[in-house]
Amino acid sequence: MRFGWIEAAALTAASVVSADELAYSPPFYPSPWANGQGDWASAYERAVAIVSQMTLAEKVNLTTGTGWELEKCVGQTGGVPRLGIPGMCGQDSPLGVRDSDYNSAFPAGINIGATWDKNLAYLRGQAMGQEFSDKGADFQLGPVAGPLGRAPDGGRNWEGFSPDPALTGVLFAETIKGIQDAGVVATAKHFIGYEQEHFREAPEAQGYGYNITESGSANIDDKTMHELYLWPFADAVRAGVGAIMCSYNQINNSYACQNSYALNKLLKGELGFQGFVMSDWEAHHSGASAAMAGLDMSMPGDVVFDSGTSYWGTNLTIGVLNGTVPQWRVDDMAVRIMAAYYKVGRDRLWTPPNFSSWTRDEYGFKYYYSSEGPYEVVNHFVDVRRNHSDLIRRIGADSTVLLKNDGCALPLTGTERKVALIGEDAGSNPYGADGCSDRGCDNGTLAMGWGSGTTEYPYLVTPEQAIQAEVIQNGGTVFAVTDNWAISQMETLAAEATVSLVFVNADSGEGYIDVDGNMGDRNNLTLWGNGDNVIKAAASNCNNTIVIIHSVGPVLVNEWYDHPNVTAILWAGLPGQESGNSLADVLYGRVNPGAKSPFTWGKTRESYQDYLITEPNNGDGAPQEDFTEGVFIDYRGFDKRNETPIYEFGYGLSYTTFNYSQLQVQALNASAYTPASGETEAAPTLGEAGNASDYLYPSGLQRITAFIYPWLNSTDLEASSGDSSYGQSSDFLPEGATDGSAQPILPAGGGPGGNPALYDDLIQVSVTIKNTGDIAGDEIPQLYVSLGGPDEPRIVLRKFDRITLQPSEEYEWTTTLTRRDLSNWDVAAQDWIVTSYPKKVYVGSSSRKLPLRASLPTVQ
Ligand code: BGC
Ligand code: BGC
Repeated sequence: MRFGWIEAAALTAASVVSADELAYSPPFYPSPWANGQGDWASAYERAVAIVSQMTLAEKVNLTTGTGWELEKCVGQTGGVPRLGIPGMCGQDSPLGVRDSDYNSAFPAGINIGATWDKNLAYLRGQAMGQEFSDKGADFQLGPVAGPLGRAPDGGRNWEGFSPDPALTGVLFAETIKGIQDAGVVATAKHFIGYEQEHFREAPEAQGYGYNITESGSANIDDKTMHELYLWPFADAVRAGVGAIMCSYNQINNSYACQNSYALNKLLKGELGFQGFVMSDWEAHHSGASAAMAGLDMSMPGDVVFDSGTSYWGTNLTIGVLNGTVPQWRVDDMAVRIMAAYYKVGRDRLWTPPNFSSWTRDEYGFKYYYSSEGPYEVVNHFVDVRRNHSDLIRRIGADSTVLLKNDGCALPLTGTERKVALIGEDAGSNPYGADGCSDRGCDNGTLAMGWGSGTTEYPYLVTPEQAIQAEVIQNGGTVFAVTDNWAISQMETLAAEATVSLVFVNADSGEGYIDVDGNMGDRNNLTLWGNGDNVIKAAASNCNNTIVIIHSVGPVLVNEWYDHPNVTAILWAGLPGQESGNSLADVLYGRVNPGAKSPFTWGKTRESYQDYLITEPNNGDGAPQEDFTEGVFIDYRGFDKRNETPIYEFGYGLSYTTFNYSQLQVQALNASAYTPASGETEAAPTLGEAGNASDYLYPSGLQRITAFIYPWLNSTDLEASSGDSSYGQSSDFLPEGATDGSAQPILPAGGGPGGNPALYDDLIQVSVTIKNTGDIAGDEIPQLYVSLGGPDEPRIVLRKFDRITLQPSEEYEWTTTLTRRDLSNWDVAAQDWIVTSYPKKVYVGSSSRKLPLRASLPTVQ
């Protein structure tokens, strides 16, 4: 038996796949069941114990959201009140609590990328986690490592950290640890290949007038998948992440939330992920197929927002009762969800959501969308910010990259008599900091991009406010021209100024909002709002013009960066609520900038490859995004194409200088690599499924319009399914999908984040770093390796650190390379391998300033 609409979805997908020239995603079944490996053991045992007491409907309730805007959070599942298990609240975003109030607006992921600071990544994660916890959110829908940043113009890159997988992986993992140490489940997203906004969802694309019927397909080869896009997710799993969100796009023409290769093989098989896979909002496209392909939670639960129908809910209950979905699979879903909940200690901190995502009114209906249920307090206005503004201010300053500083233009001394603030990006949004829904406009200073990856600001300290206060205190004079078309007024002001601080920006965001014709992805890499002309107006009139860029990623600076009057350039990214204060700390030297660019700044648009697919290229079928560049994104691509950037990956200046010397390389004693082997246990079955008659809607239940329930209308399963083509065949599921017998352990698997031997230390490297200037400062030593072989990047980042050195202080920085750091993915062996090609190590201050290098000893 099967669900008819599910079959329909499967057939649509099949007709696309069958065109043999299209990329194909191989099947992998059955879906690995959790076993509590690594530090999941006690959480797993508790989960098994509680799930064993649940009825089928109770388990299903945990797996399925109750529908869009029905309850308070952006996603909320049903609970199991009988056992004291609440419905679980998932809330955006990766930079703070979305759709609420009295919360902090943290710097974006890309700013953490620019800090290269593990400690700050952890502290930000922990601070965010505390705020989510206090608001009553059980899962934070973040952090982000997908998009990774394949395309410099990809709309959501700023939500994540960097296009480099090693930098992202470390910061992703630290963020996750911080969030989860605060007692909230982190959701690593979006898995995987979600590298552009265009065509991520067919209905959204249709809204923009594109005639497509399926989401775009990220076509990624196995080596690139492992070495680039999967890499940070391995770090996330190793860090114990509780949830992973599958993405909107297809991967090799199979939807990410029903892609058995991605979910069953890569995530649960190789990486040994023990938590649960949650769908992105409406990224769930089938019932039994998605269940067997590894999806564990449907969000927000309905087929389309507020349809009142669900692929799961009642239909998942039916799927088990009619034998389509084996009970062990639903048991495993529930165990994974409960294990994540226990692992972070959510049961000890749980509090009901005390805010509504849908209104700021104090009172409202309990069920917002349908305006039903009791009329009650829905917003308690709980201030959860603590003193997080201090951390936010510090991260803002520590993520500001000094790109140019001629003649020590910076820091300012505070004795400047006339300070000009030039450009709209210095000032406030005339609509108010929160005046555009989900930050969907580019008015005033830019401190986050747009979309679901945002928060409301509690306030936004603009550069104009912070700098003006400082200048007044210093006894100077200060004037701001913030209309980007008032060029002559800017010229006049700049001509009289001691220093001109020019503010420019470039914005992007999520595909459901179009800002000035940018449908999420950027249409170009240029500055927004006449920015280049604003800079030129100042630079042609003031010989001390300092440019400050707030942007979501690289912008083109070629028209003015080497203008002799442009004495300094700072990139401040998206610093969050303390923007102006953080910047003033750097401008006036209270903080010596130590950040490094987390991406490459090319000379022209053409310096980057053009990766975005912005016109359908497969009729009305899934647009095909062929990742033919392989692992060669960002600096790896620039290196390969011999393209010289203006500012390379890892570049950033300081108010002091550093020297590198004494590279030492030493092989460590590690045992040889052993591919994992053996078999899993058989899938456990927990409790009895019972009969249809056990799962009828409880009598007396007042059903809420559009709410998704797990129960049945009648013992006639076909009638209860609501599916006109409910059928009698089970053969649509792929071979082996329902097999719960013991399964082979994959060679690259066997532990959290993959084969434990991948994390063995093989080589120790140390260098001496000296502060050669006369003020204290931070340096970020960077270690790159070349793995050798004809098709490898010239170098890849593997290790980094952020260290503070006093004037003349010397420090011996020691780090180790793991087996994973030296391995390539062997497509034939389906395992990692240290190739026999000679390998080298490079250490220095950026991807192109690597004064120290050595051959690496042969290891295996
Ligand atoms: C976004 C996710 C987000 C979810 C809930 C989706 O459209 O892609 O990142 O967590 O909505 O708002
Ligand atoms: C919501 C977002 C969600 C998006 C999905 C928007 O209306 O506000 O949370 O990410 O729809 O497309």
